[in-house]
Amino acid sequence: MEREVAANRQGNSPVTQPPGASANSLSRQQTPRRGGLGDAPALRGRWDGGGLAWQAFRGELPLVRKAVIAGNWKMHMTCAEARAFASAFLPLVASLPEDREVVLAPPFTAISTLHEELRGSRVALAAQNVHWEEKGAYTGMISAPMLLEHGVTHAIVGHSEPRKYYSETDEQINLRARSAQAHGLIPILCVGESLDQREARETERVIHRQVEQGLEGIDPLRLIVAYEPIWAIGTGKTCAAVEADRICGLIRGWVGHPDVIVQYGGSVNASTIDELMAQPDIDGVLVGGASLDPVGFARIAGYQVPVTA
Ligand code: PGA
Repeated sequence: MEREVAANRQGNSPVTQPPGASANSLSRQQTPRRGGLGDAPALRGRWDGGGLAWQAFRGELPLVRKAVIAGNWKMHMTCAEARAFASAFLPLVASLPEDREVVLAPPFTAISTLHEELRGSRVALAAQNVHWEEKGAYTGMISAPMLLEHGVTHAIVGHSEPRKYYSETDEQINLRARSAQAHGLIPILCVGESLDQREARETERVIHRQVEQGLEGIDPLRLIVAYEPIWAIGTGKTCAAVEADRICGLIRGWVGHPDVIVQYGGSVNASTIDELMAQPDIDGVLVGGASLDPVGFARIAGYQVPVTA
């Protein structure tokens, strides 16, 4: 039994390809996800404990294309709330299929607590941002070495909220992603258009620019790109699955590697996840509001896709 995905997709366009050009990406069936941790599938789930899997999850070995379900808690959850979430959530995801990874991005203050709670589980830990310097006079910022100390393996960069509220530029986002990779963290780089840009038919141009500038010098196999249309974030308006898949396919082509992991994000919930994950170019989701409820997020992590005989 195999997932039903579009056939005959191929290609590997360079990141400099003009916007609007067809990505023609390989499907997940044609590029099977080999367990997410390079050639060491037997070691999966041990990213707290050292060894090859830990190295792979720290970005020291190339990731391979597989589903990544990530929860972005934004400015929610005290340490006590994070602990309560973990005790409700972990039993629900203990026996998920091996074809997917689950990642949680708490606020910085709950990272250490959550790290303790997640120990021995198969849920990885992400930061919601990372500074490009290792240390210095950057009040309020957190660096990659500080995150590594707390078992963090991924870092969200370029989310539309810091782009909007703190005027983050593509150049700064690129520096953050570079620093993350240089320290063995996997950047989850977010891109996406505003409603005005979509209505002005600028979607492809905007995202192509974000990809080109944000990913300069970045290794595509130690990377996750999240397509997050700004108009769909926190609004309850999920982008139609087929359109999200089209943009994710374009992103894959612009990144220039068929195995890059491309997520969709924007009002994902338990009732939309199965259709989204059935799309051939959507490799996972970045979930905000719906990741705050352990039962609902476990349902998302346990997505099921249509199968064919
Ligand atoms: P949302 O947020 O799921 O609440 O729309 C997604 C995100 O901002 O990553």
